[in-house]
Amino acid sequence: MFRTKSHWFLLLPTLILISTTFLSFSHGASQYHHLQTVHIPGTIDESEYGVVSWGVKRSVLEDNGGKTTLILAPERTRRKDPLNDFKYYTGGWNTSEEHYISSVFFTATPLFLIAAIWFLGFGLCLLLLCLCFCCCQRRNYGYSRTAYALSLIFLSFFTIAAIVGCVVLYKGQEKFHDSTRDTLDYVVHQADSTVKNLRSVSDYLAAAKQVGVDQIFLPPDVRNNIDEVDTMINESASTLEHETRTHSDTIQKVLDSVRVALIIIAAVMLLVAFLGFLFSVLGMQCLVYILVIIGWILVAGTFILCGIFLVIHNVVGDTCVAMDQWIQNPTAHTALDDILPCVDNSTAQETLSESKDVTFQLVGMVNQIITNVSNINALPIAGPLYYNQSGPLVPVLCNPFNSDKTDHICAAGEVDFSNATQVWKKYVCQVSDSNICTTVGRLTPEMYDQMTSAVNVSYGLNHYGPFLVDLLDCTFVRETFIGIKDHYCPNLRKYCKWIYIGLDMVSAAVMLSLIFWVLYARERRHRKYTKLTDAAYAQDSFEKGS
Ligand SMILES: *[C@@H]1O[C@H](CO)[C@@H](O)[C@H](O)[C@H]1NC(C)=O
Ligand SMILES: *[C@@H]1O[C@H](CO)[C@@H](O)[C@H](O)[C@H]1NC(C)=O
Ligand SMILES: *[C@@H]1O[C@H](CO)[C@@H](O)[C@H](O)[C@H]1NC(C)=O
Ligand SMILES: *[C@@H]1O[C@H](CO)[C@@H](O)[C@H](O)[C@H]1NC(C)=O
Ligand SMILES: *[C@@H]1O[C@H](CO)[C@@H](O)[C@H](O)[C@H]1NC(C)=O
Ligand SMILES: *[C@@H]1O[C@H](CO)[C@@H](O)[C@H](O)[C@H]1NC(C)=O
Ligand SMILES: *[C@@H]1O[C@H](CO)[C@@H](O)[C@H](O)[C@H]1NC(C)=O
Repeated sequence: MFRTKSHWFLLLPTLILISTTFLSFSHGASQYHHLQTVHIPGTIDESEYGVVSWGVKRSVLEDNGGKTTLILAPERTRRKDPLNDFKYYTGGWNTSEEHYISSVFFTATPLFLIAAIWFLGFGLCLLLLCLCFCCCQRRNYGYSRTAYALSLIFLSFFTIAAIVGCVVLYKGQEKFHDSTRDTLDYVVHQADSTVKNLRSVSDYLAAAKQVGVDQIFLPPDVRNNIDEVDTMINESASTLEHETRTHSDTIQKVLDSVRVALIIIAAVMLLVAFLGFLFSVLGMQCLVYILVIIGWILVAGTFILCGIFLVIHNVVGDTCVAMDQWIQNPTAHTALDDILPCVDNSTAQETLSESKDVTFQLVGMVNQIITNVSNINALPIAGPLYYNQSGPLVPVLCNPFNSDKTDHICAAGEVDFSNATQVWKKYVCQVSDSNICTTVGRLTPEMYDQMTSAVNVSYGLNHYGPFLVDLLDCTFVRETFIGIKDHYCPNLRKYCKWIYIGLDMVSAAVMLSLIFWVLYARERRHRKYTKLTDAAYAQDSFEKGS
């Protein structure tokens, strides 16, 4: 889902590049050549902020071998590894590491072993029983009242245990399904909000580009730059959206199938346990033996499934701990870096600071035009500064920053980024062919367009800069992880546990019930036989006695 992130690294720097080029070209806009005299503090040297220098910064960071590699969840993942002579695995959480996978699977060995032993052992017993049943002559059975009563008690007990296990399994799968769906919804929502923001940035850029189309104001290479970054943003957004959709659909489908499978298993096991109890109490031997065969295979299957859920439970737990440790150690190199290429915090902060600087200067430029050109009552002799501007003064734009990049509180009479374009519309005059106002107003339509496009770009930069920085240094992913860890991990772990405990109970209870169906059926047969012989004996002696 986050594979597309690599694109995002270039977004903010390119946006800054565009803005700086924008700034430098707007000085030289041919129509307002006089504005070159407008003093802009600390004029930006484009090359200083370009993509190239960004690339250098990034590679310097990567070459820096001083970054420590952090092993995620080392205690939790310290397990015996069958692929490495059963030595303890020490590599920590890393799903691309086969030793991690094998060591996690190894935790379910007891369950897999039980399944195997049961399948072979009980199979052998069944075979022997079958042979005995067919070939051996009926011997004189000994019948014990205690054995009969005990087997009935155990049979009832295990049937009840199986029913309880089925209930636990059913409840567990329901809650597990709910919590996985909630987690998925949360992640999809986070991804969607990112897509929405990216699309907004893209819209602002598109708007800025539109303005330049029939004007000299935006030179072609700036337009190309905007085009490029816009395409990139649009692509990132589309890919992210597409990947989120397909991944979440696939995961949803898998979860739905798991849910259906678990419900069927719970229902079938419940039915088997109940019918087995019924048939063996009613003495329907043939049906009992058919059920024994079915149950034999089912129990082996549920033990394996139980093992798989134990593995899932362990992986979920490991992942939650790994996320937690990754959140707490933002600078360390971890196994998560393969999926999340994050820029380090200081670089991200520097970029943000640059973006603030550019915003500050863009707003400054617009305000210089307002105060030095639009709002003066120039006489025709003022040359290019005169275009018959008249009427109420145009309000200046509120600069969100002071010159030291601290937040600036808007003074009265300053207009906000968000509605400057609407406010300024009122000050636009109609112009003659020679670009002189013929009606009251202080902005020519051309000036208005250029100012609003500058506002739009700086608004986009200011409003979405922090968001883009969050993408850059993975703050956004970190926040998502914190959300998952705090709100979804506990439930995921808990209900995963419920499922494997439920499966465990069901398989163990049905396994033992199976044995007691056979034992009870045998006791019942003996009892019947003994009663018959006893009755025959009594009849015999009665006849003899009379
Ligand atoms: C614009 O105003 C600033 C001070 O606010 C001044 O330094 C500058 O010379 C002015 N430029 C023009 C062209 O009037
Ligand atoms: C500036 O952005 C607003 C809102 O996105 C848009 O309606 C407007 O057309 C844009 N103006 C220019 C000149 O780009
Ligand atoms: C973004 O891409 C979609 C298709 O992927 C296209 O329909 C849309 O017009 C593009 N928007 C921009 C601003 O390029
Ligand atoms: C994770 O495992 C892969 C595959 O073995 C390995 O290349 C990578 O270095 C490991 N990552 C960490 C952080 O150990
Ligand atoms: C990055 O640094 C800034 C201050 O320099 C701090 O406020 C922020 O919490 C840091 N972010 C991360 C993810 O460490
Ligand atoms: C512009 O926004 C400010 C604050 O959001 C508001 O007070 C003002 O009335 C708005 N002006 C217009 C013309 O919408
Ligand atoms: C200058 O603007 C005024 C309105 O403020 C208008 O009446 C006048 O005709 C304009 N002058 C020229 C030369 O267009």
